[in-house]
Amino acid sequence: MASELIFRGHESQPVSDPYSPKPPKPWLSVARPIHYILREQRLIFVFVGIAIATLFFTVLPGGSSKPHGPIDESSYIPAELTQSRPQRSMYQNGHVATGFGINSVGKIPLGLKRKGLRIVVTGGAGFVGSHLVDRLMARGDSVIVVDNFFTGRKENLVHHFGNPRFELIRHDVVEPLLLEVDQIYHLACPASPVHYKHNPLHKTNVVGTLNMLGLAKRIGARFLLTSTSEVYGDPLQHPQVETYWGNVNPIGVRSCYDEGKRTAETLTMDYHRGAEVEVRIARIFNTYGPRMCIDDGRVVSNFVAQALRKEPLTVYGDGKQTRSFQFVSDLVEGLMRLMEGEHVGPFNLGNPGEFTMLELAQVVQETIDPNAKIEFKPNTEDDPHKRKPDISKAKELLGWEPKIALRKGLPMMVSDFRQRIFGDHKQDAAATSA
Ligand SMILES: NC(=O)c1ccc[n+]([C@@H]2O[C@H](COP(=O)([O-])OP(=O)(O)OC[C@H]3O[C@@H](n4cnc5c(N)ncnc54)[C@H](O)[C@@H]3O)[C@@H](O)[C@H]2O)c1
Repeated sequence: MASELIFRGHESQPVSDPYSPKPPKPWLSVARPIHYILREQRLIFVFVGIAIATLFFTVLPGGSSKPHGPIDESSYIPAELTQSRPQRSMYQNGHVATGFGINSVGKIPLGLKRKGLRIVVTGGAGFVGSHLVDRLMARGDSVIVVDNFFTGRKENLVHHFGNPRFELIRHDVVEPLLLEVDQIYHLACPASPVHYKHNPLHKTNVVGTLNMLGLAKRIGARFLLTSTSEVYGDPLQHPQVETYWGNVNPIGVRSCYDEGKRTAETLTMDYHRGAEVEVRIARIFNTYGPRMCIDDGRVVSNFVAQALRKEPLTVYGDGKQTRSFQFVSDLVEGLMRLMEGEHVGPFNLGNPGEFTMLELAQVVQETIDPNAKIEFKPNTEDDPHKRKPDISKAKELLGWEPKIALRKGLPMMVSDFRQRIFGDHKQDAAATSA
């Protein structure tokens, strides 16, 4: 039977639809939800909800249950297995793209209190470290200082003893250490030639830095290395820009420091590229201020101590070699901006004001004793002729530049030195004459 196709023709039939919808009223789509919210005091519930959420994020201790302080290795469970890791950053063209994790210090939403971080400062009992600790403690963070007291002193930190947010561990960073923290400032390393020549630093700079980078990797902490302007050696470029690779004697008496720090920078970048550790590198130029070691051979502390003791100021060579001197509070500000910011670096942190050794001696004479004599001695080996940071990068990307001029900073250091050199003697003298 042949199939029969029947054209019913309904497609083309005009359909008279009895239903014609009303034209839409645009204002109705807005008015309805508002009306809904206003009915039955629903608005109050909305406000109560916002208040509870604000309270929750303010009071909750950072959504982290990490123990604070040293932890028992046997009970240690890798952070990766127990919690989501803080967001990592990737190094791209010298910039870091970060997310908004524990460590990414973005803007804190209005109304939410900043959560204190847990921070380890290696070398925190030293000159720079102790000032950094003061600032972190003042900001409300919890700080663990790790120091072997090679050049550091407990006196630099004694004012924090008893504070529950502060801990001090005697430990040499060449040995591994397990801690749970959000950030690691790695400063441990003597910075003065007198000390590092007697205790060659390749181990501290290489093994110590490796240990701290390993820790940062394991716990997902952000890591900041305090490198040095010494990585530029006796520079052939002036002032020194971060892109300059330096002119370092690899076998000289200073090389354990210079090359040690260069290796530390290499390790830091390797961990960043290879293990995605969030890192920051600061290249610090000569820094001075209260709590410097008195007899550490660094030029500012030398001159100040000599002038106070009425000894001649020792100038090595012809005194025409230049240095720039940054006050310690400026450096600490720069280090914190670097740690909190989004750029890996390296960044020069120093004061571009340049002084010859003779000019520095003159400022010390003006500040302490106009009659102080100057004594010339032969220059030390590998002493760089010029040193002056180009800080354009830090200015642009960290919004940082030093604020304290030498003539303003020096008197603050002098009063600290005076107290440490003569403090007891003055009291003794007063007691004897009474
Ligand atoms: N002060 C400067 O002018 C200057 C310049 C360039 C770089 N830096 C760098 O800044 C950091 C701090 O310098 P500073 O001037 O405060 O020096 P510092 O000598 O006063 O402090 C260094 C601290 O590290 C500790 N330390 C040394 N070796 C250690 C180890 N193996 N384990 C644990 N702790 C150890 C010391 O006891 C001391 O407390 C150093 O890394 C230094 O290289 C400083």
